[in-house]
Formats: sequence, structure tokens, C-alpha cells
Amino acid sequence: MPRKIVAGNWKMNNDLSETETLLKELKKQVIPEDVSVMVAPSFTNLYAAFESVREHPIQVIAQNMHQSTKGAFTGEVSAAMLKSVGVKTVIIGHSERRAYFNETDELLAEKVNTALENEMQVIFCVGEELSDRENGDQFEVIQNQLENGLFHISNDSWSQIILAYEPVWAIGTGETASPKQAQEMHKFIRDAIAKHYSERIAKETSILYGGSVKPANAKEIFAKKDVDGGLIGGAALKAGDFMAIINAFE
Ligand code: PGA
Repeated sequence: MPRKIVAGNWKMNNDLSETETLLKELKKQVIPEDVSVMVAPSFTNLYAAFESVREHPIQVIAQNMHQSTKGAFTGEVSAAMLKSVGVKTVIIGHSERRAYFNETDELLAEKVNTALENEMQVIFCVGEELSDRENGDQFEVIQNQLENGLFHISNDSWSQIILAYEPVWAIGTGETASPKQAQEMHKFIRDAIAKHYSERIAKETSILYGGSVKPANAKEIFAKKDVDGGLIGGAALKAGDFMAIINAFE
């Protein structure tokens, strides 16, 4: 069975005091036992966030990391640094990293390797642009992102992988993939894993949907067979909305 997961990607939002306030509000809530809840604050606030949720099931994860283990890479953060502040999971391949920071499939493959070597869990993001979908190329685009960024890993490494399907046209736009479109792509991804690896691995891998998930649409999306949760941007910045999404599983 895939795990149910709701992860909040805070992006470049929330300074230290906002981070502590939001976590304080989330800690007052009861998290359903069968849902893993994660939040990804900015690098500067990871340690404070980790300290804040020490006695709480919320996990603190990172939005990015560098592919090298250490060295002269001004402004970058390594896997070991993340681990030293309690972070065990990292988002790799978010479309904003691909689009604004020129992260290619080849680079993402290196990041995945570094994370796995450091025994970190990876949330690996894939997603097509609007023009891809308009041209009917969405499946080919996702297949290529999987093959070039992720499908080099070994069977054993899959226990450290979570996938996130985030159509670029739905991120921060208020537009969401319909539950049908989400299910169709999640099934495609699961079938691709089964073909390349095995049915067992495909069945056990959590595949999250991301792109304008809100309390109003989460229930319908999470109800789909191959949707195991969400990667949430804007709605993760408000405790009430994030909690409503966490509670949207049937
Ligand atoms: P959004 O972002 O929920 O604001 O659309 C999702 C994401 O980028 O992970």
C-alpha cells in the first residue's frame, strides 16, 4: 500500500517568526494517524522548524539541495548539512527549479543519486507545460522526465522515493487538473514504474498530486485510485486550509 502523504511546499515564503507561528498553529491540530504530514520551509528556517516539531508527527523537509557533497559552491546547501539539522527528505525537480534555475534531467539525476547515497528520502517532481498538454505530448514529457531523471536508480532505492505529479499549468494559477486528468496521469506513472521495475514497486510508491490543491478540491482529487496525497503550495501557508487538505482523505 502506498503511504498517504500531504506535503506543504512553502517556497520563498515565511521568515523565522512566520515559520514558528504557522507551525505553532499546525501543532495544535490532530494529525490523522494514517497520513504523513511534511512541511518544507526555507533553508534559513529548517533548524528552528525541526526544533519546533520535535515532539510532533509533522516532518520538516527541504525544498532543494546541491548535487555535490561539499566544496566551493557559493550559496549552496549539501545533503549532509540538511541531515545535520534533522532533515531526512528533500524535494527534487520542482518545476520552478527546472524553469528558473535551469535544472535539467541530467542534473536532477545527480541530485537524486546524492540524496540516495546520503540515505535521504526524495520527493521527485514531474509535470508538463501547458503547451505540451495542448499538443497532446503530456505522456511523452512525463515518460522522458522519469526515464532521464529517476529511472536509473536501483530497485532497492524505491523505498526512498515519493513521486509528485505537478502539471506546470496548474501551479499557483488557481487552475487544477480535473480529478480525471490527475488519475489518468497518476495511473500512467504507476504503469511506467511497473514496466520499468515491478508491479510491487509500482503499487508501493506514493504518487502525490500538486497544482492549486485547496480545501474545496482536495477531497475529489484524493479520492482517485492512484492519487496518494498532495504537494501543496499556496494553501499550505494557511494552517486552516492545510489542515482541511490533510483531512480530505476518505
Ligand atoms: P500550488 O503549488 O499549490 O500553489 O499550486 C504547488 C507546488 O508548486 O508544489
